[in-house]
Amino acid sequence: MPEQDFTDYIDRIGGHVGDRTPLYQAVAAHTGARRVLYPGSYLDLAPSYHWPDVTYLDADARARAAFQGPDATTLATRHKQYPEQPRIAFVPGDYTRTLAELPAAEWDLVISLYAGPVSEHATRCLRPGGWLLANNSHADAGLAHLDPRYRLAAVLHHRSGHYRLTTDDLDRYLQPQRPPHPTREQLHATGRGTAYTHPATAYLFRLHPRTRET
Ligand SMILES: C[S@@+](CC[C@H](N)C(=O)[O-])C[C@H]1O[C@@H](n2cnc3c(N)ncnc32)[C@H](O)[C@@H]1O
Repeated sequence: MPEQDFTDYIDRIGGHVGDRTPLYQAVAAHTGARRVLYPGSYLDLAPSYHWPDVTYLDADARARAAFQGPDATTLATRHKQYPEQPRIAFVPGDYTRTLAELPAAEWDLVISLYAGPVSEHATRCLRPGGWLLANNSHADAGLAHLDPRYRLAAVLHHRSGHYRLTTDDLDRYLQPQRPPHPTREQLHATGRGTAYTHPATAYLFRLHPRTRET
């Protein structure tokens, strides 16, 4: 029953990392994004509560079964915070392959949470000046930090069920506890984020406005 699959999953991740709703709400308000791309989404449908047009990608058969059917749209329609009908697309398969087949420079925001080096494959799909929301669990925040096409634009802190987005003192973030910062190759080898002196729950990067697709 896909609708239950989505709600069970959203409740479960809520228990681990806090309700995603205020996270996405804060990012939606700050960025003004409309078209969102979410590689490695699994069953996290919550972005469709805040953005009217979301493309989800995942290799997992359960995600594919849940998204391919009317329940995702029904659930999003019930929870949506915007006036129009939700548009939900799902691309099955390995994102290291499927993202290369999507149109370039079309999306406003990429979400990268606990799903590997998403930014390395999804950046070509972001429009110039678009946004990347990443955490550092699988080192994607560190990889974006090393990517000259991005600059850190804000960080999000999670405490007691609330997310606080701040643009203050951004220079102190992404500084390794043990310099120097690992290289891209080192981050790939470990697949884990490095420890930072001032960690944030999530990082919001902005793609350079004159970036050309690669
Ligand atoms: C730990 S779950 C995280 C799900 C969701 N992003 C969240 O934060 O709740 C990681 C998901 O990424 C997917 N994933 C990881 N690597 C992938 C790849 N190369 N292509 C497609 N999906 C991938 C897995 O199938 C899994 O569903």
